[in-house]
Amino acid sequence: MPIEWNEEDGIFHLFNERTSYLLQIVHRKYPAHLYWGKRVHTLQPASILSFKGRTFSPTTEPTSKQFSLDTLPQEYPAYGNGDFRCPAYQLRTSDGSTITEFVYDSHEILKGKPSLVGLPFAYVEDDSEAETLVITMVDSKLGIGINLFYTIYRDLDVITRSASFEHLGTQAVEIHKCMSMSLDFHHSDWDWLHLHGTWARERYLEREPLHHGVQSISSSRGASSHQHNPFLALLSKDANEEHGEVYGVSLVYSGNFEASIEVAPYETTRLSIGINPFDFIWRLKPGGTFQTPEAIMVYSSAGLGGMSRTFHKLLRARVCRGTYRDKLRPVLINNWEATRFHFSERNLKELTDAAAELKIELFVLDDGWFGHRDNDKSSLGDWTVNQKKLPHGLKGLGDYVQTKGMKFGLWVEPEMVSPDSDLYRKHPDWCLHVRGRNRTLSRNQLILDLSRQEVCDWLVETLTNLFHSAPISYVKWDMNRNMTEIGSAVLPPERQKETAHRYMLGLYQILEKLTERFPHILFESCSGGGGRFDPGMLYYMPQTWTSDNTDAVERLKIQYGTSIVYPVITMGAHVSDVPNHQVGRITPIQMRLSVAMAANLGFELNVDKLSTEEKLAVQKGIQLYRKIQGLISFGDLYRLLSPFEGLETAWMYVADNQKQAAVFYYQTLATPNPPFRRLLLRGLHPKQKYRLNNGETVFYGDELMKIGVTLPLVKTDFFSEIFEIQAEN
Ligand code: DGJ
Repeated sequence: MPIEWNEEDGIFHLFNERTSYLLQIVHRKYPAHLYWGKRVHTLQPASILSFKGRTFSPTTEPTSKQFSLDTLPQEYPAYGNGDFRCPAYQLRTSDGSTITEFVYDSHEILKGKPSLVGLPFAYVEDDSEAETLVITMVDSKLGIGINLFYTIYRDLDVITRSASFEHLGTQAVEIHKCMSMSLDFHHSDWDWLHLHGTWARERYLEREPLHHGVQSISSSRGASSHQHNPFLALLSKDANEEHGEVYGVSLVYSGNFEASIEVAPYETTRLSIGINPFDFIWRLKPGGTFQTPEAIMVYSSAGLGGMSRTFHKLLRARVCRGTYRDKLRPVLINNWEATRFHFSERNLKELTDAAAELKIELFVLDDGWFGHRDNDKSSLGDWTVNQKKLPHGLKGLGDYVQTKGMKFGLWVEPEMVSPDSDLYRKHPDWCLHVRGRNRTLSRNQLILDLSRQEVCDWLVETLTNLFHSAPISYVKWDMNRNMTEIGSAVLPPERQKETAHRYMLGLYQILEKLTERFPHILFESCSGGGGRFDPGMLYYMPQTWTSDNTDAVERLKIQYGTSIVYPVITMGAHVSDVPNHQVGRITPIQMRLSVAMAANLGFELNVDKLSTEEKLAVQKGIQLYRKIQGLISFGDLYRLLSPFEGLETAWMYVADNQKQAAVFYYQTLATPNPPFRRLLLRGLHPKQKYRLNNGETVFYGDELMKIGVTLPLVKTDFFSEIFEIQAEN
């Protein structure tokens, strides 16, 4: 997996056994993109680029009239010297100009992958796993360098990119835009795919053909958001789950982002992702450095499914960290939908008792245990227990939970402050705000200013004491509003536009400290469900509450959409009450179980109120889950039928060694007089014999994949079935 440098032609070839990425330093100045895709062996890479003088395309090289930055497929383009497409970066210098001239200066090839200081990133555990190219471009008048980082992984079709700006000059500059990567494809015959949504409807798929001009998604909410996930993909026209070429990019960042595609007049496609340049300015002083977040770029020649599996492997094992990374997650019960804010020590104990009988492993106390919080109008920031509700404190309840053989978990929403709180009364300037302006509330709360070090320090100490105060082994870290009046009381006027990014750096610093101090705690992130489901949060917390929508039918879409990028071991999924709190739908317990079991299984209802039959189903469900949880958590996911395309959904998990698989099939609504249907499986070994559901019949892998299994004809809505598949010796 080397990175080769051909000095004569100025060409870098980054490759592993399956992928190549080629770029060239044109005129010894401009890094230009040559190729990214299936592994190639090139003798003539210097012949890839074509040049032609185009009317209205200026040239920076008077001796080469054919040359223009406007038509060069640039790796990290600027605006102002002839490239009229979307730039990757823009600096404003002290004379008010945004003209810069960064050209290739030097490069370095490193074993392994350097860390990103203060930011989450994809890592390696051993230097042999990856190699990194660092290209340095310099504007000699400004004395500023831009380092472009490219890492290629040995065993995964992944390239990561980021950029850092290093100021060795004398005059402060402002960074107005700094994308993490930019890349020009040589044609525009693509569809693009992104994940959009809103609260309770996260990560729906949208696939469209590219059109000329710019198409983009972004967030300016101060969080990666429910609305757009920091991911997009380009797909060849024939690409489907199994076939075709797919290029996916994802940003390891949890704040404002932009991902954009520009189809230019000569049918090139420029793709970029990074911090949203809207409302962002960073002042870079002499001696300072600015590091962009990292972009993860995945190439797949095996369709969308192939792309997802690569993302899953990388995110699960080289972005997620900590004790729980490689561990099966406990089956939990959360009291939120069972009690909301209205609970007492007694009824929480009753819920614990009922959960223990069902062999649930972890009890999670959700919102409402602190200050005087009986609704969402108060107490965020006052992280002391409400003695009226819990007279024996968190410790009393935690100890009780432990006597039942279960672990104890706690909900917190540390980034927030309620105006009705002691914290706010003491520190009214500790929230994000702009002096003299209204402080807009959302869910009756404001956001703490994590761009301030003292606020971060206070939070770390407060939470450290809290987590030490009871036997806590799980924390749900919630965040229930987006940013408004983004400003900080301590930043000078010229740095106000740094606030949102500084907030993210503050949050990451807090999470780094807490996860280091509490390695035994399983952290689950949450933002009103999946409003911050991104690789940045996964670096600190290896699972995320996927959505506040717990309806089994709705969850099929949400979990399917989420799985486009994120491994199922990162998704929290709960069985909840019916009629469902979000949509009022009544689905049978079996359907709810089968959907929640397809990720990290949990419960969020008063299990004591279930009928005897339902309790039996739950017990059996947990038993089956335990049996196949390893497969679900660590196996390869194959999506078979999409809930976005019909009334049926199916997916399957296949063990690495192809010896075991589990297929989940769901019928949301029954069809009258339906046709016979077969479900074609994937990912099995064609020549391996497999036994289905421990039954009499044995099939070859190719039989199951080419001829398929017969689907049941059932006259009922909300039907589900799980097939277990075991290799025969
Ligand atoms: C939003 C979360 O997504 C819910 O699960 C719950 O924890 C509430 N917040 C509590 O306020």
